Amino acid sequence: MAEELIPANLAMLAEIAEPVTIDKVRSDPEVIAFVRQSNESLRALGYTEHGQRHAGLVGHIAENILGRLGYDERFCQLAHIAGYIHDIGNLIHREHHAQSGALMAWPILARLGMPYSEIALVMNAIGNHEEERGTATNPIAAAVIIADKADVHRSRVQNPDKSQFDIHDRVNYAATRSFVRVQAEDKVIALELEIDTNFAQVIEYFEIFLSRMTMVRQAVGFLECEFRLIINEVRFS
Ligand SMILES: [Fe+2]
Ligand SMILES: [Fe+2]
Repeated sequence: MAEELIPANLAMLAEIAEPVTIDKVRSDPEVIAFVRQSNESLRALGYTEHGQRHAGLVGHIAENILGRLGYDERFCQLAHIAGYIHDIGNLIHREHHAQSGALMAWPILARLGMPYSEIALVMNAIGNHEEERGTATNPIAAAVIIADKADVHRSRVQNPDKSQFDIHDRVNYAATRSFVRVQAEDKVIALELEIDTNFAQVIEYFEIFLSRMTMVRQAVGFLECEFRLIINEVRFS
């Protein structure tokens, strides 16, 4: 059960007088600058959108995943915070941005007054969100991985010139709908996608996102659920 995954030392979290909220994190000038600059750096390199839209969406979805599965409310809030700042390491460099981002989050969250036990979980979630070397070992990390990898959508494409689209641009542009459906009663987490095949073939989605889906499957399994991938109403797993 979900409750069994909550470490004993977190039982005290509910008693913390003023927990650090997502609003406090989102409005912090350092966070605002870091999220903005991360996106600017990636935009210059030709990557898809990694700014406030992606940050906010990943935070909301991560919180919702744990909420639907009945996790402790503070866990859900921490998933939102971790989701919001998971990509700030990109302002240093794309390589190892998960690890650099985790280390950047530490002083920010400490300054805002977050207890070290919570910071530790958020750092772990941020540091494990990329498929090259990340693995979910706590529920917050699992939720952030699922939410992050689910964000494939037309609105993420920053390249204004369709003739210059690379395969990542085309697959993202082709995705007109992306939805994480949590069926708590069946212990199923499904990623539902609609892909406009005028812009990319379904096989191209697998071509670039296979390692991501493998990671999502591990994260979903960590939450003791079964993963389903549904593209254009066809079930692939
Ligand atoms: Fe990332
Ligand atoms: Fe991300």
